[in-house]
Amino acid sequence: MISQSSSSRVSRCRICRPRSFTVRHESTALHFYQNKQLDLYASREAKRLTLRQLVFFGRSMTEERLIQSANYVRTELPVRIAHRLRDLQALPYVVVTQEGVAKVYELYWSAFEQFRRYPPITNIKENEAFCEFLRRILDEHGSVIPNLSLGLSISSPYLTPDALDSFMRRMLVSRISRRVLTQHHLALSDTFVGKKSTRYTDSEPRVGIIYTGLDVRRSIEKCAKLLKQRPSDVGSDYEGVEMGAVSPEVVIEGNLETKFSYIREHLEYIVFELLKNSMRATRLKHRQSSSVPPIVATIALGANDIGIRISDQGGGFNFNAHSPQVKTPSDLCSFSHVRNPQRMEDSRLGTLRSVSSRREGVWATVHEQVESWQKPQDSENGGGNDDPGKKAGVGRHSRLGIGLPMSNIFATYLGGSLDIVSLDGWGTDVYVRLPKLVSLR
Ligand code: COI
Repeated sequence: MISQSSSSRVSRCRICRPRSFTVRHESTALHFYQNKQLDLYASREAKRLTLRQLVFFGRSMTEERLIQSANYVRTELPVRIAHRLRDLQALPYVVVTQEGVAKVYELYWSAFEQFRRYPPITNIKENEAFCEFLRRILDEHGSVIPNLSLGLSISSPYLTPDALDSFMRRMLVSRISRRVLTQHHLALSDTFVGKKSTRYTDSEPRVGIIYTGLDVRRSIEKCAKLLKQRPSDVGSDYEGVEMGAVSPEVVIEGNLETKFSYIREHLEYIVFELLKNSMRATRLKHRQSSSVPPIVATIALGANDIGIRISDQGGGFNFNAHSPQVKTPSDLCSFSHVRNPQRMEDSRLGTLRSVSSRREGVWATVHEQVESWQKPQDSENGGGNDDPGKKAGVGRHSRLGIGLPMSNIFATYLGGSLDIVSLDGWGTDVYVRLPKLVSLR
């Protein structure tokens, strides 16, 4: 456990790193002051809002309400970041100093300081500058997930599986919340000043980033279409076995007219990742055939929630053969090498190293994924010849092992669930349940 005043840890932080021995006194005083500030913010409770409140508040926007929203983000984020800095400080020293974790710690300290010092926003012009600031921070934090995943994979031997998984869950849920609040404010601000968004389309009704009549079938169709257009992203081979060239069709059935209020980016992240896994498994299992069985997506409109089942005939999992330690489907979502030994595989660590050094390395939304496809350097085989991932024998689209755990976190974040049922030798069914209008963490 690292104490609050431990200068050994905090001195690695760029913002308070001592430049020379002669400034040691100043630096100690600075640490003391900064840790006092951290104490102050970490002692405050996060002010939680429900999706319903966000929709209600954002529906009839006025300048005054927009300024109120800006100041909520300005004052709320340092509190939430302070809690996570405390979590990081509570990790064993050997973990916080790992490549990846140390980087995230620095990013969070820097963001905490910038938010804490940001002056109150009083008018639209100041809000514009604040939005620019938010966009820069969002961009700077683009590599947080691969960095955390890399650092915690390397540190896995020093933490119990429960400690590791609950730490990762807190970090990732909290990150989703901070990004939701930030992006929601940005979307409200753009709408207020009449700026057209490329990220959020207006083909379905929305308030900020929350779609109030989100068409589930349309989102599934969009993800299936994107994956069919880019079969190389599903993968060209798997562990040396060539995959079949035929992509399975996605058949959608059930309550096809289902619409509900939700964050579309979260729904589409989950659907995209699940369909990608199903397509990969189906192409692998049926690689010798000229026709492949379809993937069936079933939509169910329940009284309190929306259900989606993605069902494939990709052979399912043989958990024993997959890896002796992976005993249950939920182990596939674990970040611990005890539950999921693939976390420590060299190729996976190499890929994580490669993407964590690039800001755009891991996409958090389908929109970001499509943007990354459109970048000229994004060739079919990965980055350029200098790409460390390529040097390590891994292409840009190699498997990071983040898609399934992140889908699980996105599904459970607002109180839903994600369950995997595998029929070894036949296929896999994934059941996703998403609640109607619920509380944000
Ligand atoms: C993150 O992406 O990790 C963040 O914390 C972003 C937030 C500071 C806007």
